[in-house]
Order: sequence, then structure tokens, then C-alpha cells
Amino acid sequence: MLCLRNEFPLLRNNNDLSYLDCAATSPIPDAVVSSWLKYQSEIGVSIGRGSNRLTHKAEEIYHESVKRISNFFSCESDYDLIFTKNATEASNMLAYSFKDIFHPGDVILLSEYEHHSNLLPWRRVAIKTGAQIVMIPLQPDGALDYTIIDLIPTKRIKLAALSLISNVNGHILMLGEIRKKLPRNAMIILDIAQAAGHMELNLSDINASAYIVSAHKMYAPKNIGACILKKDLCNQVEPFHLGGGMVDNAIGEKKSWKKRAEKFHAGTFDVGLIRSWATACHYITNIGWHNIIEHEKEIMECVKKVLTKYTTLHILPTNNPKATLCSFYDDNIHAHDFGRALDKHGIIIRTGDMCAQHTINAFGKTNVSRISCGLYNDVSDTVALDNVLSGIFGKATI
Ligand code: ALA
Repeated sequence: MLCLRNEFPLLRNNNDLSYLDCAATSPIPDAVVSSWLKYQSEIGVSIGRGSNRLTHKAEEIYHESVKRISNFFSCESDYDLIFTKNATEASNMLAYSFKDIFHPGDVILLSEYEHHSNLLPWRRVAIKTGAQIVMIPLQPDGALDYTIIDLIPTKRIKLAALSLISNVNGHILMLGEIRKKLPRNAMIILDIAQAAGHMELNLSDINASAYIVSAHKMYAPKNIGACILKKDLCNQVEPFHLGGGMVDNAIGEKKSWKKRAEKFHAGTFDVGLIRSWATACHYITNIGWHNIIEHEKEIMECVKKVLTKYTTLHILPTNNPKATLCSFYDDNIHAHDFGRALDKHGIIIRTGDMCAQHTINAFGKTNVSRISCGLYNDVSDTVALDNVLSGIFGKATI
């Protein structure tokens, strides 16, 4: 098992904390904190704002960091990184940028596993353009029923926007199944927010049109994420933000913007955040995917063993799970009360609708509790969970 708790200042400074909410946002290791601080203390400025030693150094670090993040996702040759605040902003950016491809009657394919961030921007596009949203329905066993796609006249499907891993129950999308049913020219947008820190992704091999991702779920700071967009699409769409840094020519009638990713980078951004995201990628790669996957599997097996001791607790099912998270409900206790009870004993979990009301609703619920783990968790966290639950429920009911 990995033993990394001490490398995370949040966990070192809160000795009694069992942080089981990595899927909401992950703690940050020392290496990543230092990377950001070093940038702010030694360079500070942003890129493309002059010709001086600090700007040149910032540009060097920026390009090096972009390369490292692209390598992490194996996407350097085919995709550009368009930096955003987070996956939510990336999704809104894509919906804005691609709105003009839709006509009345076109279909935008989503699934009942979508997070609100990957649902609401597309719903707005549908309302404004007359396109129709079709949701791949969720079955009681947690499987998606892909046969609904067979009922749509193929050429009407313009775009599919789907989560690779559900933030509610860890369901992994069967992309191959969906692909077989889509027309060749349909765009695929994948939300990889819940996958990025927990499995190796080769985005060039997956070959979607675009990906959306947040750095803060993969041991990097908040306020940085990306839309990872196919290079040829970068030049085809309108930028979401206009302003400083993205202009080629702003004088006169005929405005023109810079090319590729630069066209989308209006306004000053924090190169330190991009650098610390690259450091997080390096941190993960150094630990190694095999070690991370085995570790998280072991932690979640312990968590599920604890939860299944109690007959009133029910884990939401999935037919294709990723071993980093699970949600559950209790027959008698509201999720928020559950969360508060665990918090009293130092255990942090997520409770509520998970920003995915459709998913929770499809399971017949309005709120659930979610436990999610990361590479920093260890057996002390699952022991703490076991102790607190036996305190709440008395001794195990089965
Ligand atoms: N999307 C994040 C979660 O699932 C916030 O908790």
C-alpha cells in the first residue's frame, strides 16, 4: 500500500482528518504547493505581456508545463490545451463555441450520468437552436441503455457529450459501444474530470473531438483546468472570451484573432497554476499508475466491506465500476445528517445531490452520501470509518 499522507500539508496539519472526498477536490502535495509558490516568488508575471527577463522566463515555463501536461494525457501531437478555470468553464466554452453547428431537429446526445456542468450548457444550446437533447437512460442496475441510440435517425446526431466516469457511482462509460452507433462525423466530447487522477489516459488513442478536465481533482490547485481540443477544431470555432492576449488585429472592421489555443486565452492568467498542474502530473507519474490503481482498489474494497456490514445502508449499483468512489444511502438517515455525524469524528465525505440530480433521481433518490479516495488515503481512514459507523449503528447488523 502507498503511504503518502505526510506529503500532504492539509493532512499533516489536521491529524485527526480522514479526507474521503477526493472526487470533490483533492488535497495538494508539498511538491505542488512549492511549485506554485516558487513561481510567484521568483517570476510572478504572465506570458505575452512584453519583452523582458521575467516574461521570457514565464514563457519558457509555460511552454514546458504545457508539454508536460500534454505528455501526461498523451495528446501532444493531436490536441491543444485551452486553459480554463475548471471543467465547468471548459464545458460552457465548448457549448458556446459549437452552438452554430446546430439546427432544429439535430440531436445532442447526453447520458443520465452527466454532471450538471456537462448537461446545462448543452441544454441551453438546445433551447436556443431548436436542437433536441436525448439522454441515454440509466437502468436500475446502474447500466446505461445504449439501445436508445438505435431509435435516432443516425445523421441527426451531431454531438455526444458524456462523462467517462460518473461522479455519483464511478460508472465507466462504454465508449466503444456508443461509438459503434454514432455517425462517423458526430463530435464526441468527454468529461474526464473524475478519471484524470485515477487512470492512465491516452487521449490521442481515445480520439474524441474534445475533453474537459479540472486540475483540482488530480492533486493540483483550483482555478485551473482545460478544454483539450483537437488542433484542427481550434481554428474553426469562435472564441468564448474576447480581450487582451488573443488579438491579432483589433483595428478597423476586420478583426482577427491569434491561432489555435492562443485564440482562447483572453486576459491575464496565472502561469504558476499551470506550472503546478504540470508538477502534479509529474507527481502522479512518479508514483506510477499500477501502484495508484492497486492502492485505490484496496482502499475502496475496505470501504465497501465496512458499508455492507449495515443492512440499512445501500450502495448505488453500477455494472462497470471504477474503484475510486461509491455513493450510498441509509433507509432512515438523511445524507446531510450522515455527513455531519461523520464530520464530528473527523471524516469528510460528500453528501447531497452530487451536482447530478438526474442521476440521483434515476436511482429514485434526492440525496446520497459519497465516499471517494485518492492516493493519499490509507488504512487509518477506513479504520476511522469503521469505528464511527459502529458508533452510529451499534454493532454490525449483518
Ligand atoms: N463535481 C464535484 C463532485 O462530484 C464537485 O463532488
